[in-house]
Amino acid sequence: MAYETIIVEIADDIATIRLNRPDALNALNQKLLNEVCTALEEADASDKVRCIVLTGSEKAFAAGADITEMADKTYVDMTTQAYFQSQSRRIEAIRKPIIAAVSGYALGGGCELAMMCDFIIAADTAKFGQPEINLGVIPGMGGTQRLARYVGKSKAMDMNLTGRFMDAEEALSSGLVSRVVPAKKLMEEAQGAAQKIAAKSMLAAMAVKDTVNRAFETPLAEGLNYERRTFYGLFATQDQKEGMAAFRDKREAQFRDK
Ligand code: CAA
Repeated sequence: MAYETIIVEIADDIATIRLNRPDALNALNQKLLNEVCTALEEADASDKVRCIVLTGSEKAFAAGADITEMADKTYVDMTTQAYFQSQSRRIEAIRKPIIAAVSGYALGGGCELAMMCDFIIAADTAKFGQPEINLGVIPGMGGTQRLARYVGKSKAMDMNLTGRFMDAEEALSSGLVSRVVPAKKLMEEAQGAAQKIAAKSMLAAMAVKDTVNRAFETPLAEGLNYERRTFYGLFATQDQKEGMAAFRDKREAQFRDK
């Protein structure tokens, strides 16, 4: 499909989706968000894709929802148009792993979009923030909920109430991102992580994504039950037989997603 606000490349089992509105620091207008959702859904359905990398430009992953597009909306507009709601649901429904590779600004909806991915690899230039309070609003795509789960109440309150930005080191030490690398190495690092994931059994990788996400939705006992049932279920796959046979034979496993 031809896109106007994103660039999609598929190579070596990995779909790389690059946000591409350079004049607006990749601000998330409805067109861009819908294109991201469609590209993610296409990647999820494609047998040429085993892992997805979502990224922006060197200066900005995304500087937030498009303020110009939102400024004149009313409560009724936002509610009836279900702003950000349908896209959030579409992104949450993606079953293949998604890595956010963040360089520069990841603010407001940009930070929220990165947090909707499965983990975040940051360039040392990355800046995260939920500055919606400066606009007289609050986050609308998970910035109060997901950020609190990533970094805890105190920091989530600090970020949301003051609107201050968090640099890459602070994001790493607070658990918002999994790795920080020099900006020039960002895509190499993200592609390397994606390659590692792509070499696993997709059934196991999708089960990891599903069960870890379940940890944020359920009490511990229920989550542990869910994990156990999923774990037992994987013993019905040929990939489990292959993975364990390969360990015994001291060779690389050849997973076939069966
Ligand atoms: N929406 C629309 N346009 C944006 C934008 C946004 N979120 N962020 C930046 N832009 C535009 C600017 O208007 C500017 O356009 P023009 O050249 O046409 O004037 C262009 O991108 C470059 O931006 P700046 O000149 O401001 O660049 P800077 O380097 O001086 O500052 C910045 C960078 C600190 C990120 C600053 O642009 C900024 O503060 N942006 C807004 C950040 C923000 O408030 N995000 C939250 C949005 S609300 C939200 O996201 C709601 C939600 O939860 C879903």
